[in-house]
Amino acid sequence: MDSKQIAGEKAVEYVQDGMLVGLGTGSTVYWTIVALAELVKKGLDIKGVPTSKSTETLAEDLGIPLVNLSSVNHLDLTIDGADEVNPKFELIKGGGGALLREKMVASISQRLLIVIDESKYVRHLGAFPLPVEIVPFGWEMTSKQISRLGCNPTLRAKENSPFITDNGNYILDCYFEKIQSPYKLNHTLNMIPGVVENGLFVHMADTIVMGNRSGNVEILNK
Ligand code: 5RP
Repeated sequence: MDSKQIAGEKAVEYVQDGMLVGLGTGSTVYWTIVALAELVKKGLDIKGVPTSKSTETLAEDLGIPLVNLSSVNHLDLTIDGADEVNPKFELIKGGGGALLREKMVASISQRLLIVIDESKYVRHLGAFPLPVEIVPFGWEMTSKQISRLGCNPTLRAKENSPFITDNGNYILDCYFEKIQSPYKLNHTLNMIPGVVENGLFVHMADTIVMGNRSGNVEILNK
């Protein structure tokens, strides 16, 4: 079985009746959502809060009851993927472009569970270019300011046009090679006018569910 699928499916064991559950975005948490939908059909009573339009469509199509983020005060659990995870449980997210909604949903979750395959578990963050969501207005200026932090930002494109997030913004993919202090960089980036949010998730993840090539799952708890 695929290591993303193993991790994604394992995560449903953390979901209990009555929970409000944040539903992440991407090809690993896809398997969680599919498995959750099966449990819902068998009577599991949960409500999901999607982190992207694509997850919203998927969950709706599969019959998972959804509620709006604005209608809840907290979530019991969010399950989401990641692009990189380090041993301190710091993350790079946003490879799929959903980082803003993902961070908003994670920020009010009692527990954030991350599903990954073992290739995502790294010693240092930064080999994966850090996604930064920015407003389109004056984006070149924002890009220049970000480049002064030691990276070479690339405007994410889709079919020869800028990639547009669910929030109508652009994404700059910022290759830092090695991020020395994710905590500091997270704050520094978010202080730049024009930056909406960045893909560093620091002090947020509680549990990592990691699938490996030999078909086993490793659970890491903070
Ligand atoms: C989307 C994300 C995803 O969770 C991240 O990119 C991992 O995706 P995948 O599970 O497809 O590898 O942050 O914005």
